[in-house]
Amino acid sequence: MQPHAMYARNILCIGAGYVGGPTMAMIAARCPQYKVTVVDINAARIAAWNSDNLPIYEPGLLDVVRQARGRNLFFSTDVEAAIKEADVIFVSVNTPTKTFGAGVGKAADLQYWEKTARMIVRVSTADKIIVEKSTLPVRTAAAMSRILNAKKKGVHFEVASNPEFLAEGTAIADLKNPDRVLIGAQDTPAGIKARDVIVEIYANWVAREKIITSNVWSAELSKLVANAFLAQRISSINSISVLCEKTEADVAEVSRAIGMDSRIGSRFLASSVGFGGSCFQKDILNLVYIAESYGLHEVARYWESVVLMNDYQKRRFVATMISTMFNTVADKRIAVFGFAFKADTGDTRESPAIDVVRQLLDEHARVVITDPEALDNAKIDLADCLDKVEMVSDPYAAAQGAHAIAICTEWQQYRALDYKKIFDSMEKPAFIFDGRNILDHKKLFDIGFNVFSIGKPAHKHY
Ligand code: NAD
Ligand code: UGA
Repeated sequence: MQPHAMYARNILCIGAGYVGGPTMAMIAARCPQYKVTVVDINAARIAAWNSDNLPIYEPGLLDVVRQARGRNLFFSTDVEAAIKEADVIFVSVNTPTKTFGAGVGKAADLQYWEKTARMIVRVSTADKIIVEKSTLPVRTAAAMSRILNAKKKGVHFEVASNPEFLAEGTAIADLKNPDRVLIGAQDTPAGIKARDVIVEIYANWVAREKIITSNVWSAELSKLVANAFLAQRISSINSISVLCEKTEADVAEVSRAIGMDSRIGSRFLASSVGFGGSCFQKDILNLVYIAESYGLHEVARYWESVVLMNDYQKRRFVATMISTMFNTVADKRIAVFGFAFKADTGDTRESPAIDVVRQLLDEHARVVITDPEALDNAKIDLADCLDKVEMVSDPYAAAQGAHAIAICTEWQQYRALDYKKIFDSMEKPAFIFDGRNILDHKKLFDIGFNVFSIGKPAHKHY
């Protein structure tokens, strides 16, 4: 199909989530010559994308959306019309872990992807390039190509892989200046043509040497492996954090010392209450499932341990709280500072705070949660126990009358609070459990707090 005369190309993205929205906003902002349409079956989400109250909190995103929205960036629920018009279709629907059937708890649930593929086949009347933007199991493109090209309508669908590496909270900076853009395509004339079209889109603002190409399977697998390696670093340093607590070593000092070795590098070595987010655990379990399906049990166990260590770290954090607070938190008010899975996002998917809160509720603690952006999502995550938790946006109000504060998200504003004022309003002895190692522990100790952190010696007045 010919692109609309006004535009050099018609780009569509199916799935207006954390990836589809920001990614397409950036393409539209940087490429005014293309028409970029983003569709979703979730009408509320689309309405929010068409307003100034965007459906996701992401620093800098609204500016980028405003640059292009209504000019060459459009958000719509009319999926069929958009498919008909498009010549390049990015698919960034969700690919969560399966909650049923074979592979439950590990394999990727591909039903949203497959439904999308079937709709593309049904509606299309001309050749299209289908770009896997979602994170998918290696070799998904083969299955998708089979589904897409099964009904020989004289229409050809070329499937390429272009995984997304943005991190939430820094999505705009990551998209503006990515470490690399990866495009996997088949080594056939149609595959090479598709690859070149996708390269051309990114080359509008990304340096050519950062746009790398590979075969489809390498691109699909690289995405899973990148997340697995990143998460592995966190689990590795978290495994050392407990050893530090036993030996009076300080995990921040260890991270600094090893990170200065240029072969190791300094990033992703911040020990914490555990990693969260919608993808690390999901993608590692997916990798584990793929390895198992090829009979590679040693490989599967190796990567699974990254997730098991993360579970241990989240349990350990609460266990320390309970044992420190005289082996009971029942009926004690505990203020949880931060519910988002990391700072600068309202996203709470797989947030370690969810596990922390649920464990505290199991111990009959009175939990009060505060977060600058994530309380709406917290209400959804804790829908089954909302009568047992309080949520307030003001951290001072949350801490009022509390026995302890648990820092679960590294929000910058938590560093700058008046902890003397907070201390004065709390029950005594007052405890702080810094699950992100972001506070000045010595200063808090001097105020009167008993301070426990991750992988560092405790500061206690007894
Ligand atoms: P999301 O849940 O925020 O968004 C997915 C959207 O797809 C939803 O709004 C949903 O309504 C929509 N959708 C589902 N089926 C549809 C259909 N048939 N037609 C139209 N819309 C449909 O998910 P996300 O966080 O944007 O992640 C999407 C993919 O990108 C996942 O595979 C994820 O692993 C990957 N990814 C995510 C991130 C991230 O930071 N969140 C980063 C890189 C890669
Ligand atoms: C991660 C990857 O960083 C992205 O490259 C990838 O595209 C994305 O997953 C995805 O596929 O969804 P994201 O989950 O948004 O991005 O955020 P990260 O910055 O990676 O943080 C993940 C978790 O690890 C957070 O809970 C964070 O607090 C934690 N973390 C991170 C640590 O505990 N320590 C660290 O040193 C770094």
